Amino acid sequence: VTDLAMGAADVLRSNDIGTMVTAAPALYPHMWSWDAAFISIGLAHLGVDRAGQEIRTLLAAQWADGMIPHIVYGDRGGYFPGPGRWGTAELSASAPQAPLTSGICQPPVHAIAVGRILEVARRGSAEDRAAGEQLVRDSWDALYRWHAWLSQYRDPDGTGLIAVVHGWESGMDNSPRWDQPYTAVVPGPDLPPYVRLDRELVRDGAERPTDLEYDRYLWLIEEMRRASYDPVKVYDTCSFLVADVFVSAIFAVASDVLADLGEEFGQPAAHVAELRTWAARSRAAVAASCHPETGLARDFDRRTGQWIDVETLAGFAPLICGGLDADAERALLATLHGPRWAGHPELVAKVPPTVSPDSAGFKSREYWRGPQWPVVSWLFGWAHARHGHTAAAATLRTETLKLVGDGAFSEYYEPVTGEALGSRMQSWTAAVILDWCT
Ligand code: DGY
Repeated sequence: VTDLAMGAADVLRSNDIGTMVTAAPALYPHMWSWDAAFISIGLAHLGVDRAGQEIRTLLAAQWADGMIPHIVYGDRGGYFPGPGRWGTAELSASAPQAPLTSGICQPPVHAIAVGRILEVARRGSAEDRAAGEQLVRDSWDALYRWHAWLSQYRDPDGTGLIAVVHGWESGMDNSPRWDQPYTAVVPGPDLPPYVRLDRELVRDGAERPTDLEYDRYLWLIEEMRRASYDPVKVYDTCSFLVADVFVSAIFAVASDVLADLGEEFGQPAAHVAELRTWAARSRAAVAASCHPETGLARDFDRRTGQWIDVETLAGFAPLICGGLDADAERALLATLHGPRWAGHPELVAKVPPTVSPDSAGFKSREYWRGPQWPVVSWLFGWAHARHGHTAAAATLRTETLKLVGDGAFSEYYEPVTGEALGSRMQSWTAAVILDWCT
């Protein structure tokens, strides 16, 4: 465990380019929003100040309207789509001129990270403690505005389910959850040409999304450019609009965490109350989305008005935010750790795959279509601990450490063989391992 922790610390240090730790050395040479949140948790173990810096770098790129963008570009190129393809600085009234950013967002895990950094800080020296508390004071209002943006622009009707306008916003880019909604994304003949860089950078290009998937990803960017990234217009016009149950669960629990911090640190009572309202509403909506037979939570396609009945790990969203009655929660927990999912007899490590090996859509090597992601296991482990499922949380930790024991700190793993896939030296993998080992 000590060797693994040292290896993880080395990954974070070597991906650190000063004010940001890049998501990975080659494939992702910039800052990604939800990566940065998890990375900052790992950094807290190396120095609370440096963890705070990571959050501050991200928040410095927050848009004037409150959105936290999914990519904050550093000064290196080497990634497609880069800032020119998005054109946010020219087209959007809210995007910063510097740093340059993408024009979409990612799951709101940031308050969870700040809460965790504070916990780590409070176990440390007086200076660490002060730095952790200062970080809460400095970031609270920005995070409140970020949650307000999600509530206002991604759930304008107050349903409790937060919508995404691009699969990238879900973080689970090519999950089978999105296959149906993506059929409505039809790239026009005027899609500007482009060259992918990602497929060259992993050992086997088949571990990445396909070219058809990329055409759709890029076409959505064209649609958003045409709407000048105005969040109201994007919501009304984008051909992809799905209420994302996993993002909604993260939003609910992160709103709880932020409200708790707000109370403790004397933030405006009206804002704390709003966060509580959003949390309760989203928690209830996540619970209400569950399929009556399988018990799995579901996304809702706002363009077609249909529930998306595809079995993926996102179905366990209620275990992230709570809100089920005790029996239903126990049943869902048992399913997650049972023989169809994390406890599947063929898995080398008993952590949840992104798609069950027994499901028709399972692809053992393809990104979000089957592989196990250590960062997702950490998130479930954190939530299990929060909701009192201590033994299940401990299992996720032990089994993930087994999976990453090779020290590659890969982005994701083949569940049946345990083979490391995608990018190596992935910062968020290292970060969650460090949090689990220290
Ligand atoms: C990628 O490039 O695969 C990222 O997930 C997009 O944000």
